[in-house]
Amino acid sequence: MDQRPPVRGTARTPRAARTTVLLLALAFLAPACTAGAGGVAGTPGASGLRDPYFPKLGNGGYDVTHYDLTLDVDPAAHRLRGTAAITARATQDLSSFNLDLVGLKVDSATVEGRPAAVNRAGDELTLRPDIEVGSKLRRGRTFRTVVHYSGSPQTITDPDDSEEGWLPTADGAVALGEPTGSMAWFPGNNHPSDKASYDMKVTVPEGLTAVSNGEPAGPPTTAGGRTTYRWHTPEPMASYLATLAVGRFTTKTSTMAGGITVFTAVDPTVAKASARTVARVPEVVKWEAAHFGPYPFTATGAIVERKGDAGYALETQNRPFFPGPPSIGLLVHEMAHQWFGDSVTPASWQDMWLNEGLATYAEWLWEEEKEDTPAQDSFDDAYEEDANWAFPPADPPSAADISQPPVYGRGAMVIHKIREVVDDDKRFFALLAGWTKAHRHGNASTADFTAYVEKATGKDLTELWKNWLYGRSRPAADG
Ligand code: TRP
Ligand code: ZN
Repeated sequence: MDQRPPVRGTARTPRAARTTVLLLALAFLAPACTAGAGGVAGTPGASGLRDPYFPKLGNGGYDVTHYDLTLDVDPAAHRLRGTAAITARATQDLSSFNLDLVGLKVDSATVEGRPAAVNRAGDELTLRPDIEVGSKLRRGRTFRTVVHYSGSPQTITDPDDSEEGWLPTADGAVALGEPTGSMAWFPGNNHPSDKASYDMKVTVPEGLTAVSNGEPAGPPTTAGGRTTYRWHTPEPMASYLATLAVGRFTTKTSTMAGGITVFTAVDPTVAKASARTVARVPEVVKWEAAHFGPYPFTATGAIVERKGDAGYALETQNRPFFPGPPSIGLLVHEMAHQWFGDSVTPASWQDMWLNEGLATYAEWLWEEEKEDTPAQDSFDDAYEEDANWAFPPADPPSAADISQPPVYGRGAMVIHKIREVVDDDKRFFALLAGWTKAHRHGNASTADFTAYVEKATGKDLTELWKNWLYGRSRPAADG
């Protein structure tokens, strides 16, 4: 059974997205310069980071270092109550700053322990700290903001028509956040460029389990018919990779080579059908580490829900999410994202092909080494596939296209072309491991990647990038 992840949802006709992006970007260029009462210097943090595909995502003026989320979830009633304690460092003198949040109601907020005024405009919260605090939000200072919120968390429909955010499942709910959905369950700086560590404390009805990223932080505790689970993610994580799965789960904890915690949670109705593949998590992690460099996290695992619970798998950090029993190829793909995407995270949503091209290439490599299908054969098939030539991987025409075939198949073809240039597998894998090392736990753009590859190979690869990464037409297969 082939379960390649490529196509999510059905792409609609690309809209004139670029024009919209440009106009929105211009609108951000004129922040009001306010000197608040009492002579508070500083300007409002921007309401978006001008991502080429999602300009309103994220916020300017600060960097989050840590999210401490306390959540109370009642899936049957479709209710969520949360407290988000956010530690951030100001990157400018701030008179106010924004957080992204969709749907849920803000009950109250503080900045540095004092009540803050909250303004709501669509998915943007603007927090204006009290005067005394205002003078402290200077560039370089670390501050803490706490938001209390509640309501019915929303399912978000993406530009490509697939669903993310908060997804009710057969026996609970799951939160998936690529590309925008984290703001459906917690307020934050919702852009891949601002990574942070996380603590999650999640209380659910007794009998249900709450699974998230990172390490279990102590055993669950039950009181008054409700059980609290604690999760700790020490390494930086992009908000789109944060997850929470609430439901009935068969869980297993073990430790693999290198002291890595393996935590798997599988819906009991698919446990039997998943068992063989899920048991291979350590084998896949080990095999990928041998090709891509040391596994970047202290914990790994998998979350397996029922087939109908979501429309696609996702590389949620530490613990990829699967709707139904995964094939080995899909496990290889999502686990490869732990290096390509989760540890080395795209600088913007335009750099998506770095995630999907490399994760797809990991599948080709697995098939080459384990299943006797040379990567060259996969390349040849991908080359023949017309859908891979709809647009260049580094330049999807609109937000509806960032998960379309060229980002995966043609992205992987770029990697295969680099392998041809290197022409030595030892050196090729050293190049991949060097990339994951150079940007470990950070962000990287397409320009960073092409510069890195040229430096590592000592070659001018202008033609390769032109033909395979940016070109609109299909080059000769050996071009
Ligand atoms: N990243 C997922 C995978 O490779 C697929 C996916 C889910 C996706 N949501 C997305 C890709 C949003 C792009 C944008 O399996
Ligand atoms: Zn992927």
